[in-house]
Amino acid sequence: MTGGGDWQRDLLRELTGEGTESGGGAAVRPRQSASMPESASESPSTSAPASTSPAPASGPAPSPDAPRRPAPAPVSHPTIDPRLAIALGRPQHGDPVTRRAGAGLRRLASSAARDVSRLTELARELQQPVTTGRVVAVTSIRGGVGKSTVSALLGRTLGHYRHDPVLTLEADAALGTLPTRMGAETVRWSCGDLARILTPAMQLTDVTGYLVPVADGGWLLPASQGRVGAPLDVPTYRTVTLALRRYFAVTVVDCETLPGEVARTAMDTAHARVIVAPMTAEGIHGTRQVLDWLARLPHSALSTTVVALSAATPDATIDARTAAAHLREPGVPVVTLPYDRHLAQGGPIHTAMLAGATRDAAVHLAAEAMRRAVRVR
Ligand SMILES: Nc1ncnc2c1ncn2[C@@H]1O[C@H](COP(=O)(O)OP(=O)(O)O)[C@@H](O)[C@H]1O
Ligand SMILES: [Mg+2]
Repeated sequence: MTGGGDWQRDLLRELTGEGTESGGGAAVRPRQSASMPESASESPSTSAPASTSPAPASGPAPSPDAPRRPAPAPVSHPTIDPRLAIALGRPQHGDPVTRRAGAGLRRLASSAARDVSRLTELARELQQPVTTGRVVAVTSIRGGVGKSTVSALLGRTLGHYRHDPVLTLEADAALGTLPTRMGAETVRWSCGDLARILTPAMQLTDVTGYLVPVADGGWLLPASQGRVGAPLDVPTYRTVTLALRRYFAVTVVDCETLPGEVARTAMDTAHARVIVAPMTAEGIHGTRQVLDWLARLPHSALSTTVVALSAATPDATIDARTAAAHLREPGVPVVTLPYDRHLAQGGPIHTAMLAGATRDAAVHLAAEAMRRAVRVR
């Protein structure tokens, strides 16, 4: 939906200080390529052992600047041990059968025209053109509240609706669940690897060779190969996001929890922020403290913030309306993500298996975030 090349060329000029015709900018392509190199998505059984060549044998063509990468190419690692993967069980639908049948009947009885116009309006928000790559950072005050789940829903919703490249990036030092939630079976290249590899002369097709393609459209970049290793640091985060912004219209970042240093950097440098609040009294209280802190910052961070109120358990007893009203007080929109059986199962998110209310919430949340992200220069 964007004018494609324009914002990418502008940002490239901004980054390199070069003209776009003679510099690397002419090499940047506005659309993702239909054919993916095998390197990012290959299965563990077909992955080559670590090699010392400057680029993976089956991956993107090495760029002229690539030889400055001395580290050996990483090998693919499964996101879930195959012995556990077979124990995952069948994915269950977010809505029980009775609710699905009831929803069908309600749809027949409701005003179809009103539904269509509401959906068209939301789709328009999600597809808004961008002048330069926009970054939406997702964080929370503690782990396990649904941050990666919300990031995956946002990345997949935007990847589905937008026609320009969308990236979902994991910036969590802990062993995160984002690759699994996004449906990646294996991970290979991480943020740290790309920080060393990316050069301004690379084309989008070179870059996507290092990323994992996502089913609904878009790409994924994990923080690690899924093993305990050196945590992501602020310079690496800055290098990777700044370099990747020129290729991707929207980057959704699954951050570590606040007040981690990378999370604060991500929050500070993003165009829009999503804070995931758990549906508990202490979680809502803590999130409110973060909102009050954002309100005191010199630049109006609050005006580009959205809260996702996540009901990650069916046993929450707090009144959702009171909770949302408390969080709305500083002037931020609150989107409630309902408890969803399919999300509770863990494992890959199959968008077709989500409850209707979850899908609505994901689209609504993505639209609120995009509305704010495009407003910022
Ligand atoms: N809306 C939801 N409905 C049901 N369960 C959820 C929901 N959101 C998250 N969960 C559950 O919470 C777990 C932790 O979520 P995750 O996104 O990994 O948290 P975080 O990234 O904040 O650590 C998920 O594996 C899932 O079981
Ligand atoms: Mg997580």
